[in-house]
Amino acid sequence: MLVRGFLTGLLLALLAALATGKRLKDRMYQPLITHGFCFRRTNGTHQFGCSNSMGGDVGVVHVLFAESDLDWMLEQGPHWPYMAVVRPSLFTGANVERMKRSGKIAGIVVVMNEALANDAPDGYSDDQSCPNQLSSLYWDSQGQCDPDEAPWNPNGSGMLLESFDFPIFLTRHENTTQFLLEDCFNAFNKPHEDGSARDWPLCAVELDAHMYSAVSTETCLRRSNLVNTLNPVKFCDELGDFSYFTFLKAENTSDPSIVEEDQSVIVVSSQLDSITLFDLNEFGADSPITSIVALLETARLLAVNPPDFQGDVSNILFSLLFGEAFDYMASQRLVYDMAENQFPRKYDAEKYPHGQKPLFNVTRINQIVEIGQLFNQKSGQKVFAHTDTEFQGQELLNDLLSAARRHQLDLSAATVSPSKGLPPASSQSILKAQRDIPAMVITDFDDQYTNPYYHSLFDRPKSNLNYDHDQGPDQEVVQHIGRVASTLADYLFEKASSSRARVPTFQANYTLVNELLYCYLVKPACPLFLAVANKETPPFYDPFPIDPFPQYVGVDIKTQFHGIFSHHLLAYFTGEIVEELTNNLEDCQAPDDQDVFSYMFLKGESAPSNWTGEKPCNESVSCGYCFKTLSFRKESKSPAFVIEGYDFKSLNYSSWAESVWKSVNARIFLKGAPSLEAGFFAIGVIVFVFSLVIVFWLNRHASEIFEPGTRTNSTESSATTVSTAGGAAGRPIAL
Ligand SMILES: *[C@@H]1O[C@H](CO)[C@@H](O)[C@H](O)[C@H]1NC(C)=O
Ligand SMILES: *[C@@H]1O[C@H](CO)[C@@H](O)[C@H](O)[C@H]1NC(C)=O
Ligand SMILES: *[C@@H]1O[C@H](CO)[C@@H](O)[C@H](O)[C@H]1NC(C)=O
Ligand SMILES: *[C@@H]1O[C@H](CO)[C@@H](O)[C@H](O)[C@H]1NC(C)=O
Ligand SMILES: *[C@@H]1O[C@H](CO)[C@@H](O)[C@H](O)[C@H]1NC(C)=O
Ligand SMILES: *[C@@H]1O[C@H](CO)[C@@H](O)[C@H](O)[C@H]1NC(C)=O
Ligand SMILES: *[C@@H]1O[C@H](CO)[C@@H](O)[C@H](O)[C@H]1NC(C)=O
Ligand SMILES: *[C@@H]1O[C@H](CO)[C@@H](O)[C@H](O)[C@H]1NC(C)=O
Ligand SMILES: *[C@@H]1O[C@H](CO)[C@@H](O)[C@H](O)[C@H]1NC(C)=O
Repeated sequence: MLVRGFLTGLLLALLAALATGKRLKDRMYQPLITHGFCFRRTNGTHQFGCSNSMGGDVGVVHVLFAESDLDWMLEQGPHWPYMAVVRPSLFTGANVERMKRSGKIAGIVVVMNEALANDAPDGYSDDQSCPNQLSSLYWDSQGQCDPDEAPWNPNGSGMLLESFDFPIFLTRHENTTQFLLEDCFNAFNKPHEDGSARDWPLCAVELDAHMYSAVSTETCLRRSNLVNTLNPVKFCDELGDFSYFTFLKAENTSDPSIVEEDQSVIVVSSQLDSITLFDLNEFGADSPITSIVALLETARLLAVNPPDFQGDVSNILFSLLFGEAFDYMASQRLVYDMAENQFPRKYDAEKYPHGQKPLFNVTRINQIVEIGQLFNQKSGQKVFAHTDTEFQGQELLNDLLSAARRHQLDLSAATVSPSKGLPPASSQSILKAQRDIPAMVITDFDDQYTNPYYHSLFDRPKSNLNYDHDQGPDQEVVQHIGRVASTLADYLFEKASSSRARVPTFQANYTLVNELLYCYLVKPACPLFLAVANKETPPFYDPFPIDPFPQYVGVDIKTQFHGIFSHHLLAYFTGEIVEELTNNLEDCQAPDDQDVFSYMFLKGESAPSNWTGEKPCNESVSCGYCFKTLSFRKESKSPAFVIEGYDFKSLNYSSWAESVWKSVNARIFLKGAPSLEAGFFAIGVIVFVFSLVIVFWLNRHASEIFEPGTRTNSTESSATTVSTAGGAAGRPIAL
């Protein structure tokens, strides 16, 4: 009897424990829908970004809508660790640093719903005040960028180069934000009027974005390589994608001994990427979209009206460099490939008997015209041409300034150039290899960035550029970018033509500039991206996202659509249609015995007149035009990952890698008092110990229980022991 009674009691106790636990959980349990999180990156020697303990971090929600909320949380709040739910304007370097140092933080959730979308601080940048300083041409010169006195990026928080051991998430979801603020915080956690804390149960959030990589790229690669090949585990991926290029004129040599003329090619360059703390939220407007659009329009104008290349200049190379935010990774790779005689491609006379593009070396560069950030509300329509301290091209600069005057562009020489040299720019990588190449970098600032939101969530079209597609081609930012493009086309044409050539009146297509800004900054499913779509891109391969394409370079095993569409636009604007291959996707393949040009099948802005397919043109991959293009792509992964046995402690090359993670979770729930939870835990432990004893006991006495018979003394003494423990287990449940 005793035994049976005990067993029943135990079962009830177990059920009660389970039921109570479940009830508590069910009362409130919500997924936290997120739009990005901070993850871990490493360079050769250090780790950056966020990671948390395995299994996730839990904290009591405290909403920070005013500085005083932060004070309360860190100084008065008794229920730490806290999960800080922060409005964007309070997510500043100083505040995050304070939370980090307090040790009272389990994580941070930045809420940025519709109402808070423009809740930006006065100025804020995730990047450093001296971006890419370690890879700077001037890294050893005093005062070129002094973080305290005269930084290029005065609003730089350096947050991207911090390491956090707690998770930081972003949500832009309307309902999740409402739930966090109202149903969670206001209902359970909001301190009383007198500032005293509320009692348990409290609303809590659990965040989990545990990272596999730690310490440094070197450590991570070593660990990844250690693991045997039967069970490959990767802890991190190297950053990298492709950079995209096009020459304006076809060059062909089937003879490797042909030495191309030195200093005869103008390089026109822009960077493709940007970066923010939050993955998938890189939607930079001033940086980099204004410059990409200006470069594309310049290339288009010159393709329509090409110079004759009869003077000193033999060609123009347009380049879109992908990965520059990470220590100039892409331009370092470009220079490396040139020095290794593999840009655009290694000579291979056997494979390409009908010729290929001649090798291109730094010695062939005539000058560099780099386009940087071009417009924001603070800069207005002023732009500046920056040059190196050792710049030897005063005439070029004067010619550029005259071209600007012809197009009513307010361009002047940067006043700081003679003393400070170039601002952060890809040209620095090329000048490292050959300092005497004249380089001019056009930007919307003189001595420091006018863009208050460089590399941040807030570099957005409406707030930072005052851009609105519906305002049409006459709005300020469109006109300005158009004028930059016309000026550059004019200047480049003049440089690349014989003296007899008549300079056409270049006039940018402002409608086109407006459409390009719309595609890159507002809606990727736009007419121009649709015009350059094909079977490898949305809408045929994956649907278009609602948000713009993210501009983060990402890891080398994935090619970003941001770059792919930029490449397609470059080909679309500078290539020519192969008429006989219209609507002929299968045969749109350039002869493979040459590497002078290639073919690219694109949808086009209007359907070919003789499309006879069953589906409408916009729904069929095989409706479109075949473009003959001189454009090509090259890997932008850092040379550090290419050079065998590279020393990752060296600063020669960018050495960035991104951690691998397995799963990311975020949820909201109601958390009972820790003492209560400890109680449940105790029950668990006791029940477990119990079961062990019982199983052991049952094993020994099975025959006596299941077969009616006489009890022995030993059974009774065992049962007594057990029932005492049973009493102990019962107590917490009675609560
Ligand atoms: C990595 O970044 C840290 C912080 O900026 C720097 O001190 C270190 O030199 C860098 N290491 C490499 C190899 O780039
Ligand atoms: C951003 O930088 C500008 C220029 O230095 C400065 O006036 C402004 O106060 C800064 N904003 C913030 C929030 O630090
Ligand atoms: C948000 O909540 C409303 C009302 O509860 C619902 O109709 C809507 O579908 C939800 N939106 C999302 C994106 O979940
Ligand atoms: C390019 O430059 C590198 C190093 O400066 C040199 O070794 C190589 O031979 C050059 N290639 C050509 C084609 O001039
Ligand atoms: C390149 O030049 C070679 C030699 O003149 C010629 O045979 C070949 O057809 C040309 N290739 C292309 C793609 O134009
Ligand atoms: C300008 O671009 C738009 C959009 O692509 C196009 O429809 C229009 O025909 C172009 N205008 C001129 C003058 O080329
Ligand atoms: C469409 O017209 C082009 C010439 O413009 C021709 O070469 C092509 O074969 C035609 N395609 C079809 C499917 O009729
Ligand atoms: C194709 O165009 C038609 C009419 O313009 C439109 O209704 C349809 O949604 C488009 N289809 C796609 C896949 O964009
Ligand atoms: C870095 O560059 C220096 C100078 O060019 C060279 O001597 C050194 O070997 C390089 N180190 C690595 C790890 O490539």
